[in-house]
Amino acid sequence: MATPALTLQHVSEFAADVRDSLTKSGQRELPSKYLYDEVGSALFEAICVLPEYGLTRADTRLLQENAAEIVSRVPSPVRVAELGSGSGKKTRWILEALSRRQITYYYPIEISPHALAACEKELAQIDMVSVVGHEKPYLEGLRTVADGRSERDHLLVLFLGSTIGNFDRDAGDRFLREMREILRPGDALLLGTDLEKAVDLQLLAYNDPAGVTAAFNSNVLARLNRELGADFDLSCFCHEARWNYSDRRIEMHLRSTLRQSVRIPAASLRIVLDEDETIWTESSHKYKAEEIPEMAERTGFRCEAQWIDSEWPFAQNLLTAE
Ligand code: AVI
Repeated sequence: MATPALTLQHVSEFAADVRDSLTKSGQRELPSKYLYDEVGSALFEAICVLPEYGLTRADTRLLQENAAEIVSRVPSPVRVAELGSGSGKKTRWILEALSRRQITYYYPIEISPHALAACEKELAQIDMVSVVGHEKPYLEGLRTVADGRSERDHLLVLFLGSTIGNFDRDAGDRFLREMREILRPGDALLLGTDLEKAVDLQLLAYNDPAGVTAAFNSNVLARLNRELGADFDLSCFCHEARWNYSDRRIEMHLRSTLRQSVRIPAASLRIVLDEDETIWTESSHKYKAEEIPEMAERTGFRCEAQWIDSEWPFAQNLLTAE
């Protein structure tokens, strides 16, 4: 597949975000959404099949084993919108279960055109399912889908894979509240959340011995080189996964192995990184099962049901808009 041309607007937004987050006082950062270009999305797919990263298998298992019950709890007729569909593989179980009772409209919402194309290809072959992708930010895409439905259609929003964990906890609440404002009472949200487990297991899931997660993390610097003309020398950075005990999250960082200067021409920026200074690239918050009903209540939902995987602590939570 050809790489779509980056518009000037995309490049200038990207450059402005990079400039702001790398020049923040204190800890330097890069927004985690920039991990997912074509290479990053392919590396993330590889992470999902790593033996050490049980999250995606648990998410999929719960959907496979409970799809009929999940669907039976959702009002009818219903349209399905998925935020950050990725390849769409695990969504198949829900769509197949729904298509046994109705013609199903499925709207994957993705900012990555590569992931969106893969998802459309994967799911368009299911009988009685019509797939219409939206290459938009999550809530903008959801608003389009919600505005386009009739009075009688309900919405089931899928937000799987513990992507909510990539938001800070307050930002996650704000995001759910904004989502709730787009929905009508009775609409449903299926929310996947990775649960806390032994720290060594969690660290291994984000620091696999084959180095796939390290490649996923450092690809963001390679992307800055490709798209913004930066001159990061990737051999002078190492991947680091940390467990933050107070905020109960894994943090991914890129540690500079020496004092170095880096130029990012498209962002009109030159930075000097000290030896051992890090760039924080992602947070993955982990939850206790009982936190989810509280989070639902704070944000205008009610938690109807929860399914927890027996092999890898992970919860699928069915929330209803109040
Ligand atoms: C997409 N997201 C839920 C993944 C996670 O576990 O936070 C991204 C990821 N980062 C490193 N490995 C996987």
